[in-house]
Amino acid sequence: MYPPLVYLNGAFLPPEQAKVSVFDRGFVFADGVYEVIPAYGGRLFRLAQHLNRLDASLTSIRLANPLARDEWRAVCARLVEAAGGGDVSIYLQVTRGPAPRDHAFPAEVHPSVFAYAAPIKYPDTALLASGVAAITVPDIRWLRCDIKAIALLPNVLLRQQAIESGAAEAILIRDGLMTEGSASNIFVVVNNRLITPSKGPFILPGVTRDLVLELARAHAIPCEERDIHDAELRSASEIMLSSSTKELLPITTLDGLPVGTGQPGPLHARLHGHYQDYKREFRSGTVE
Ligand code: PDD
Repeated sequence: MYPPLVYLNGAFLPPEQAKVSVFDRGFVFADGVYEVIPAYGGRLFRLAQHLNRLDASLTSIRLANPLARDEWRAVCARLVEAAGGGDVSIYLQVTRGPAPRDHAFPAEVHPSVFAYAAPIKYPDTALLASGVAAITVPDIRWLRCDIKAIALLPNVLLRQQAIESGAAEAILIRDGLMTEGSASNIFVVVNNRLITPSKGPFILPGVTRDLVLELARAHAIPCEERDIHDAELRSASEIMLSSSTKELLPITTLDGLPVGTGQPGPLHARLHGHYQDYKREFRSGTVE
């Protein structure tokens, strides 16, 4: 189901009236970047962090941000309102726009800006209670996974492989180290410590990842950002994934074997609780 309204290059339109050139470099080269931003009770969550990451992605691909921060705020707010102002997520993307096909940048760039809001589909409570399955797969992506690029073919293929194996997520391994999920960051628990890979070119700097670490530190849960070897992943007592749309989800089987007891673990329960408390405070306007 498509949303009733989308934003395209300055206009708010029904999706069937929103048209992009077949020569758009997003379509032809996947030459663009994107963000997914949740809103709770109509308030955009961690908007500054998402717009900072958008700036970083655009700088990395050498494309000037076509909108000022206030303009992004206004576009997102109008889309959230049009979607009913509840719990929705904004998808936005910026491409290098239409130009005759040539790998090199066009002399004159007219970026395409597209955004819409869609209701958030929460993992149901049964799934939270049971956890989800994951498989490990080689990380076949490029060397700049810190850019939130719209070029997601490897992620699409790896997620599809997970689904066809009866799993919800693919956990990626590069040179013997765990990087992240096909569309999520990954945390493990070893000796009661919460561990996630350090930021760098091989992972997306997840906004949810940062919030989970912030909450862990605020509640005196020991945590580390460092390399996680494949063997350590397999021996972890808990594994969880984080993303703006899935929040913090326990992974209870890995490659068909139980993770720890095979049930969501105590650290997930604590962190998930803190995350929900934080969201509640955010909705009521107590925290930004
Ligand atoms: N993806 N790593 C990858 C590869 C991702 O695609 C995502 C999110 C994350 C988590 O980032 P954040 O916490 O900022 O959402 C990590 C979004 C949700 C998507 O592509 O739909």
